[in-house]
Amino acid sequence: MREKEKRRGKNKRLRLLIVLLVLALGVGILLKLRWRAWFGNPTEEPYTTAEQIDRLTLTPGQNFASERSISWRCGESLQPSELLYAEVSDMILPQELDWTSIAAEGQIVQTRSGRGCYYTASLDNLEEGRAYLYRVRTGSQEASGRIDMPSGLDTLVRFIYLGDVQDPSGQMSSELFERLTGHIDSAIRPSFVAAAGDQIEGPTDEYWRVWYSAWGAGYLARTPFILSTGNHEYLKKGFTRELDPRWVAQYNYPANGPEGFERRSYYVDFPLMRLIVLDSNGINDPIAILRHRSWLREALESSGQPWQVVMFHHAVQCVRDSRSHPVMRYVYKPILEEAGADLVLQGHDHAYSRITTKDRADTISPLYVISSSSPKVYRNGFDPIHDRLGSGLQLYQSVEVRPNSLRYRSYLYSGELYDDVELLHSGSGQKPNRAIDWARDLPERFEFNAFGSSSKAQKKANQYREAIQRRAQSHQSN
Ligand SMILES: [Fe+2]
Repeated sequence: MREKEKRRGKNKRLRLLIVLLVLALGVGILLKLRWRAWFGNPTEEPYTTAEQIDRLTLTPGQNFASERSISWRCGESLQPSELLYAEVSDMILPQELDWTSIAAEGQIVQTRSGRGCYYTASLDNLEEGRAYLYRVRTGSQEASGRIDMPSGLDTLVRFIYLGDVQDPSGQMSSELFERLTGHIDSAIRPSFVAAAGDQIEGPTDEYWRVWYSAWGAGYLARTPFILSTGNHEYLKKGFTRELDPRWVAQYNYPANGPEGFERRSYYVDFPLMRLIVLDSNGINDPIAILRHRSWLREALESSGQPWQVVMFHHAVQCVRDSRSHPVMRYVYKPILEEAGADLVLQGHDHAYSRITTKDRADTISPLYVISSSSPKVYRNGFDPIHDRLGSGLQLYQSVEVRPNSLRYRSYLYSGELYDDVELLHSGSGQKPNRAIDWARDLPERFEFNAFGSSSKAQKKANQYREAIQRRAQSHQSN
């Protein structure tokens, strides 16, 4: 009897040992496969910051109609710096410009492989429809830019929205940016550019250089950018992550975010809308979740404007095959829907998705979008919740916000229309708003083809093609 018990105990221990060994092997394989993605950072080559002004950047304050900040970089040791600005018009001769000077705040930003001094100054009394010239000075260095304050913001706000740009060489994005910057002096000039994170390949000085040079000299100095952080602007530090210190130094956004996330989560007010930007990189940190939950709800509910637009990097309903962000989906999505978000702009998945909310036979707000401008493309999934999908595409979007309607359009780099949705107020001023799909006759495109040549990869490719056919058939029968 005792022998039997002994043997049973031995077998039990052996089974436990085998389970532990299998688990350890599994964790080992997973770590080997995912080590770079989870813990690796791109190498930052040693760099020096020249004694000349660069990276001149224009960002809005909380009140888009009257507030702007200007940030720049110069040299490696702090020097007295100032911003001079003057209203300009056809009626004022250059020698008669009335310059006002304000002191700039400086800080040294030390990164893994170098350092630079960043400066910023803010203006809070600019007037609608007026134009201003500005000069920034650090030591003996000087650079200049121009601010055109838009007029008629209470009848129309037009902006460009980009998903992930993430273009390591800058080659592809510079072609798109050339098209967009061509609009700067035209009648369809956007009031600002919004981008949903991963502007760059990784937190290195070289990738920031690529970002600024892809836009061309002076565009960021003249057009306000409203940006959210992406995971590629974060530095991985073992099991934690830290935002690249250049991000906040060069983008002086309003400090109206939750504690610890100031200038990374923030909102900007327009007469017709509140644009709320949320840093979704802290989504797995319980404190960040708690702080953002109440902040997001309060930011949505306290807005008196007719439209609420929210932007963040990690989607509430992913389009990349087999990806999900449970915190975004189960913590933030209910808040967006309960507190009246109209349009939700997202990134990260490197494929296209548009989802309208469904209420019996009606399509209503929030309208969720995931887009990408990046040469890096992922395979999409085919969950029928996505009203419209796309893969292997590089896109940009235009959004026009009017008192009673919000028109969202997505375009291929070629300028060809890819998606078109309109949100209309119900008339009673009550949420949700009605969503009209103007893209029903536009075919979906699935150009992702990076499967590889192995038999396993080919099997996946065939499954992907079959899923595309099934989706086309179900669309035909609807
Ligand atoms: Fe990302």
